[in-house]
Amino acid sequence: MTLDPAFQVFLGDCRVRVEQALDHWLPVETTQPRRLHAAMRYAALGEGKRVRPVLVYATGRALGVEPACLDAAACAVELIHAYSLVHDDLPAMDDDQLRRGRPTCHVAFDEATAILAGDALQTLAFRLLCEADDLCIAAADRLRMVDVLAQASGSRGMAGGQALDMEATGQDIDLARLENLHIHKTGALILASVRLAALAAGAADDERLPRLERYAKCIGLAFQVHDDVLDVEGSTAELGKTKGKDAATHKATYPALIGLDAARDMARRLTAEALDSLEPLGEAAEPMRQLANYIVRRKH
Ligand code: IPE
Ligand code: IPE
Ligand code: MG
Ligand code: MG
Ligand code: MG
Repeated sequence: MTLDPAFQVFLGDCRVRVEQALDHWLPVETTQPRRLHAAMRYAALGEGKRVRPVLVYATGRALGVEPACLDAAACAVELIHAYSLVHDDLPAMDDDQLRRGRPTCHVAFDEATAILAGDALQTLAFRLLCEADDLCIAAADRLRMVDVLAQASGSRGMAGGQALDMEATGQDIDLARLENLHIHKTGALILASVRLAALAAGAADDERLPRLERYAKCIGLAFQVHDDVLDVEGSTAELGKTKGKDAATHKATYPALIGLDAARDMARRLTAEALDSLEPLGEAAEPMRQLANYIVRRKH
């Protein structure tokens, strides 16, 4: 896919920025316990797209805040995401061997280490929101950020969505249940990325926030619908994960329930709605618009 050149630069800058910050926050591999720290770094610093951090920075741009004030939020949400992938790939869950073009964490290390690496990535996310040295964020806003991230990650957010996903595997579920599952397992962290950026920007009461949140809800669902589509039509080499796993393991997905064409259509409609929501926001919201398009056009 061809990206808008300005967005390509934005994407590259955000990725470098968050990867440097993650590298700084993650204990080095020589720190004891070495195997655990090596697994944490392996899981967090691989070839991820960094969509959630990019969304944090893009939202910050729309709200007029410096990237330096957004690093903690960007890292925190990416650490939760990295942990969710490590646990998602475990034998007890999706039992996957390939992630980001490399062996999954439990294959490269071992199951116990992968479970612990996930646990420790999760708690590091919260530590960072408390301790990151950015003077731009007031203590009261940091507390709200911890709350936003905890809710989005927990039983009423991503972890809850993963529980619904496991329950639905091999079952016939209707569209409403599938949407609810996707909104939680994937949408929650994407919505949290926007909310965290708004808090870091001191813009929690900004009149633009409802529009930004509607945008986030739309692209969050579109993201997982497209992930389901890619599992059908992508290639293992391009995806960096095993193609066709969802169908093989009877996962509840959009292509399985409504067909591939209808799923693609739905992702497109959601993107249009997300863009519509940003309509009055002007030039500063351009990276958010480009990101919405990227999410449903990406090949991995
Ligand atoms: C994969 O997320 C898991 C889902 C929520 C669909 P990403 O597609 O963002 O994975 P990385 O971080 O780029 O590897
Ligand atoms: C994973 O959804 C969502 C989370 C990790 C929270 P999937 O199981 O579809 O993600 P992939 O396809 O393995 O990346
Ligand atoms: Mg899964
Ligand atoms: Mg999976
Ligand atoms: Mg998937």
